[in-house]
Amino acid sequence: MHCSYYGGVRILSGIQPSGTPHLGNYLGALKQWADSQNSEAFYCVVNLHALTLQIDPEELRSQTFDGVAWLLASGLDPEVCTLFIQSQVPYHAQLSWLLENVATFGELSRMTQFKEKASRQDGYRAGLFTYPVLMAADILLYNAQEVPVGDDQRQHLELTREIAERFNNRFGETFTLPVGVQPKSAARVMDLQDPSRKMSKSVSSPLGSLSLLDDAKEIDKKIKKAVTDTDNEVRFDWENKPGLSNLLEIFSAFSGETPEAVAERYTRYGDLKGDLSALVAESLAPITARYHELRANTNQLNEIIDLGAEKASKVASATYERAAKAMGLI
Ligand code: AMP
Ligand code: TRP
Repeated sequence: MHCSYYGGVRILSGIQPSGTPHLGNYLGALKQWADSQNSEAFYCVVNLHALTLQIDPEELRSQTFDGVAWLLASGLDPEVCTLFIQSQVPYHAQLSWLLENVATFGELSRMTQFKEKASRQDGYRAGLFTYPVLMAADILLYNAQEVPVGDDQRQHLELTREIAERFNNRFGETFTLPVGVQPKSAARVMDLQDPSRKMSKSVSSPLGSLSLLDDAKEIDKKIKKAVTDTDNEVRFDWENKPGLSNLLEIFSAFSGETPEAVAERYTRYGDLKGDLSALVAESLAPITARYHELRANTNQLNEIIDLGAEKASKVASATYERAAKAMGLI
């Protein structure tokens, strides 16, 4: 564990403004961010990254506010951490250009996320290719020591370290090398209908993913219909009982017990599912209510993002100036 002189670990993470979060986003990212926030933590809604996709401007604007409201509703406190919108801190795009001249074409060509996304679109944007460099800029601007990210972002984080190290060697010590951190529990919430795949926004079965806007009835229906197995023994065992283990893991993330301890209390799948659906509904209800309240108050949201942009810019401008000067810019 790294500790900065300010008492907390410097953390940065970002989330794309891409619609209503699902239970995987909440347990794997939002809740973890809220639980580990401190005065040295920076969280941003990465709307510049969203420009790499085809997105309607009005929709982007609205989803960016949705993203901020979901982060606040999940428990981020703008008085404790720094919560901001990426595009409001111009140093992200500026540093990204400098780092595009440190990263190589070959490195970016090897990014699996780029290869996957590019193979699915004709005429993909140049920004899709340089996306990981912008992500590196996000992280390096804040001298982040830890970056909470999912598995799928590990390669981007490795690249960030490479870029930082190369920059430091070439131009003098400038950037902190970050490490990726995975949440202790619920790092991967699986699809309720197909426990071999991650819960995601783009699942084929609408029953597989729990949206944070689902009401108690929908939650109950989806959990009751969740795929388990037929041997009827309640046991935490990812290998042989992935569907059930997913439910136990979700239970544990909300109740704070270990999944094994939860398993011990049940002998029947039906009882576990009933209690789990009540627990999830009860835990999400106040978050959803807070989201609606926050989202309706645009003035308050604007005040919060203005404060965030101001706090983030102070740190980002200092790092950017240092990097620009090191590279010989006037
Ligand atoms: P995405 O929706 O894939 O852009 O992810 C946004 C954030 O949610 C990232 O930090 C992911 O690691 C996290 N996340 C997405 N899906 C899941 C999942 N099924 N389980 C846990 N975390 C997830
Ligand atoms: N690429 C990340 C994702 O798709 C989002 C992201 C952008 C990010 N910048 C970041 C995550 C900086 C962590 C740190 O999930």
